[in-house]
Parts: sequence; C-alpha cells; structure tokens
Amino acid sequence: MRRAGAPDKAQDWPSAACFGRPMHNACATPLRWGLVGPGKIAQRFADALSAVPGSRLAAVQGGRPSHAEAFAAHWPAAVHHELAALLADPGVDAIYIATPHQAHAAIALAALDAGKPVLCEKPLAATAAQAQAVVGRTAERGVFLMEALWSRFLPSWQQLRAWLEAGEIGSVHTIQGTFCFRLPYDAGSRLYAPALAGGVLLDIGVYAFSLAQWVMSAQGERAFGGFDVSGVLAPSGVDLHVAAQLHWPGGAVAQFVIGFDASADNACRIHGQRGTITLHPNFWESTRVTLQRRGEPERTLELPLRHNGFEYQIEAAAACIAAGQHENAAIPHAHTLAVAELSDAMRRRLGVRYPFE
Ligand SMILES: NC(=O)c1ccc[n+]([C@@H]2O[C@H](COP(=O)([O-])OP(=O)(O)OC[C@H]3O[C@@H](n4cnc5c(N)ncnc54)[C@H](OP(=O)(O)O)[C@@H]3O)[C@@H](O)[C@H]2O)c1
Repeated sequence: MRRAGAPDKAQDWPSAACFGRPMHNACATPLRWGLVGPGKIAQRFADALSAVPGSRLAAVQGGRPSHAEAFAAHWPAAVHHELAALLADPGVDAIYIATPHQAHAAIALAALDAGKPVLCEKPLAATAAQAQAVVGRTAERGVFLMEALWSRFLPSWQQLRAWLEAGEIGSVHTIQGTFCFRLPYDAGSRLYAPALAGGVLLDIGVYAFSLAQWVMSAQGERAFGGFDVSGVLAPSGVDLHVAAQLHWPGGAVAQFVIGFDASADNACRIHGQRGTITLHPNFWESTRVTLQRRGEPERTLELPLRHNGFEYQIEAAAACIAAGQHENAAIPHAHTLAVAELSDAMRRRLGVRYPFE
C-alpha cells in the first residue's frame, strides 16, 4: 500500500566517474530508498539522506505497523505493511535493511530477487552460511550489495588508509583497540537475544575485525591466518565480553577487547615499523586521527563529519548503483564473508549457538 508520495520522474544518472570515493556534492546520484526496519539506527539513515543530494526516503516497511507509520510521519515516506509490497514499489530504487540481525539475510535475498540493490546494516547476516547465500545471490542476479560498514567511508578512516598506502608508518605489525560500553543486561533487548542473533561479536566485533582486515589489506595481506579468543557469556547465552587476537601469515597481530559490560577508551592504534597511527575515540566514528612517525613531531588532523557520518556510505552505494557495480571496492564481498566466517568460528569457540543455526 502506498500511502504517500509518488514516484519521481526519471532522472539522468551521473557517469561512472562517481564510483569509489565520497562525492561531497560534486556528483549527486538520484536514488529513492526503501527502508526495512524503521527502528533506532534507521533514524540516522533517514536523517543522513537529507545531506545526500538526489537521494531521498521513498517508503518504509517494518515490524509493527504503528511503528512504521510513526516513522514515516516523522521522515515523510510511503508505508508498506508487507515486504513484498515495498519490493514491488516502482517508486523504490534501492533497499536499506536495518532490522535485527537474524532477519537480514532473508530480506536481502528477497530484495535481490526483486532486482533491488541492497545496502544492509552490519552484519550482512547472522551466520557465515547465510552471508554466503546472499553474496551468491548477488552474483546470480547481478544486483548491487554492500554491508553498511559506514566507518570505512569517514574522512578519518580515509586518511588512515591514505597514510598506510603512502607507507608513512611502514609495515604494520600490531593493531590494538577497544570497543566497550556498559549496557545493563536486559533479556528483552535484541542485543542480548539469541533468537535475534545478539551478542558483541556480531553487533560491534564486526567493526573491529573489519578495520583490522582493511588495514592489513592496504599492505597486501588478504586473509586472517588464525585467531585466539576468550570471553564471558551473558545469562541469555550470547557473548557479552570478548578478547580476541587475530594473526596474519606475515606475523602481524590485531588485539581487540569488545564488551557490553565495561567502558574503555575506545581508541584504535595501528603500529608499524616506522610509527603509529591513532584513530581517536570512538574509533568507529572518529573525527580525529594522529600520525606519529618515529623521531618526528606528531601530526593530528581534525576531520569533522559533514552531517552524521552515514552520508558517505549512502553516496558510495549510490555511486556504485549508478555505475552498474555489484560491489563497492572499499567493502568487497570477500571482506564481508571473511569477517562472517571469523565471527562464526569465534562463536563456536566460545560456545555461543543461535536457536536457528
Ligand atoms: N551502523 C551503526 O552505527 C549501527 C548502530 C546500531 C545498530 N546498527 C545495526 O542496525 C540494525 C538495527 O539495529 P537497531 O538498534 O536500529 O534495532 P531496533 O531499534 O530494534 O530496530 C529494528 C527495527 O526493525 C523492525 N523489524 C524487526 N523485524 C523485522 C522484520 N522481519 N521485517 C521488517 N522490520 C522488522 C523493528 O520493528 P518494531 O518497530 O516492530 O520493533 C524495528 O523497527 C542491526 O543490524 C544493528 O547491528 C547499526
């Protein structure tokens, strides 16, 4: 059911030259988004659309109809009460998925089958098997898919990558970070619910592991070589606090502590043979980055967000879709699958099992 809004007139698409980097208004890509899962983070996405010229929220679909209607009243959009209706809406060009984790894969598969490009909140799926199915369907259908790891497109993360690629700190040997905050135990929260694929590994571990993988890929290390993990489980049985060490074949290690039960400084430091780069707290939303080369004065850059930080990933996805790309070079499907497999393996080691596995 379309309750409001009408399809836009056809618009000219920008050239493939838009692909790759954040566009900063230089190359607006018109796109009408359909949003599935109008909860907390979906508000940030809807808000960011106002900072992306040409992109707008066209329609929403959610769990409880009253919630979807309230959301669409605040962020003006049509409301559909069934996923099939949203996917069949000719006024929707692309789908953003922001439901709890266990629902991501089925919604992504349905969207890809409907020929709609997908930007899916992290993690792409609750298990590696589900993630493989979704990535496989993207290849079959030839439709764009990206895990919404928004941090990779932030100016601070782009600066980090530029310094790494320029060899400013030499070969990376150690990555260290924390992602910890206090979240009182609540059996009703999706974060603690096994049936909703809760736990720290899938909710916040993906940021840490994905950052480490991205850093190491800048120096040609493609795959994780192995890991050590220890942790504490919540009363519901999901992972509450995890200490993880990742190894690469060349000898580099990444050490992260992630938890819902403690606070920490939440910075990330990348140590190389010639220096250190720090993504200042919170590393996943950092606006400040420091380069410290041995024997030289440190250099700190303030890199504020243009809006709320989601605008960069929306622009990156829109540019890929306009260019007919099936994946974004900054978040290739292989990276998503590698982190999904790592998360699965860590959960198994910790004894966490979801009821649907
Ligand atoms: N990128 C980031 O910074 C960031 C931050 C937080 C979360 N996230 C990710 O965003 C996702 C959602 O998290 P959240 O905290 O926003 O969750 P949330 O507040 O619980 O919102 C989830 C929304 O999905 C709806 N929903 C549940 N099952 C659905 C289904 N099968 N089909 C359609 N809609 C469904 C819910 O409906 P009701 O209204 O009926 O409950 C609710 O509106 C997760 O993947 C999470 O990891 C990302």
